[in-house]
Amino acid sequence: MSHVSDTSKEVILSIRDLKVKFYTEEGEVTVISDVNLDLFKGETVALIGESGSGKSILGHTIIRLLPKNANVSGHIIYKGIDLLKIDSSLLRNIRGREIAWIPQMVGSSLNPTVKIGVQIGEVLIDHYNYRNQRAWSSAIDLLKLFEVEPAEEVAKGYPHQLSGGMKQRVLIASAIAARPNLLIADEPTKGLDTIKKTLIVNIFKKIKDLKPDLSILLITHDLKFARELADRVIVMYCGKVIEINDKNSFFELPLHPYSKLLLKSLPSKGLYPIPGKPANVANPPSGCRFHPRCPYASDICEKSSPPLIKLDLNRCVACWLYKR
Ligand SMILES: Nc1ncnc2c1ncn2[C@@H]1O[C@H](COP(=O)(O)OP(=O)(O)O)[C@@H](O)[C@H]1O
Ligand SMILES: [Mg+2]
Repeated sequence: MSHVSDTSKEVILSIRDLKVKFYTEEGEVTVISDVNLDLFKGETVALIGESGSGKSILGHTIIRLLPKNANVSGHIIYKGIDLLKIDSSLLRNIRGREIAWIPQMVGSSLNPTVKIGVQIGEVLIDHYNYRNQRAWSSAIDLLKLFEVEPAEEVAKGYPHQLSGGMKQRVLIASAIAARPNLLIADEPTKGLDTIKKTLIVNIFKKIKDLKPDLSILLITHDLKFARELADRVIVMYCGKVIEINDKNSFFELPLHPYSKLLLKSLPSKGLYPIPGKPANVANPPSGCRFHPRCPYASDICEKSSPPLIKLDLNRCVACWLYKR
């Protein structure tokens, strides 16, 4: 097992040997496996990869929001506590206050019957015993910061009165109101046009200004977004982590053949699509799961799954090309 750690930085979350299975009518499906990674205090990490690679499942596993047919094994350590082992009351204390989650489905994530100002402020009442008035004014401050104006009016209103973009900013405001230590956001730019994406980038920058030691896990398939905000990049393919790299190093010299092709598929790089179809986790290819699409594949790639190899302090890759 290759661990990813850098002693100069403080680890905020450690994931070890994580595996998530689903029991479905077609049988048991392992959707993520062998996940080992550390998140550091104050860093922004982009979790990237094609649709279906397991990014959202990994996020849901950390915040413990998986459906009932899921089976999880391994460890997710936060402040010395294994999040996979704690009971629901401790989980409630951690969720929202310590670790916050911005879900992908913005529309269905706000309560239609509760005033916006109350929805943003309630974590402060729950977790910090704020009085109503103080929570309300904190909510208004956040609305102003995120330019959801007129903030006082918006706070008194309900979700159906807001545009999609405003709803999303409200959701982000409610996630960060309690100043969590770790924020996990699932595809915060999905379906947005360029102008709205820029707005979201700016909001994430404002969040960092507000709390510089906040760690952010950005689940995204938007490489441009990742490039703007991330310090590090983690790449998933078919349920496995296949590369961990510093942002600059990743965009200049990606390690895994999949990462190289992923970058070449960007519009700015000529939009060369990756050949073949994404592997299916329900029936993954043998050996390296990327081998059927890989221009460098050799015999060993078909036979044996490459471990995540640590190249140096900041770079890991799961590819036989790098195994000396
Ligand atoms: N409730 C579920 N039951 C069975 N399989 C699921 C369930 N939810 C997700 N999956 C499968 O898990 C895999 C990873 O999904 P997901 O994490 O949503 O991918 P991503 O976010 O990278 O697009 C997919 O193959 C998906 O079909
Ligand atoms: Mg997803």
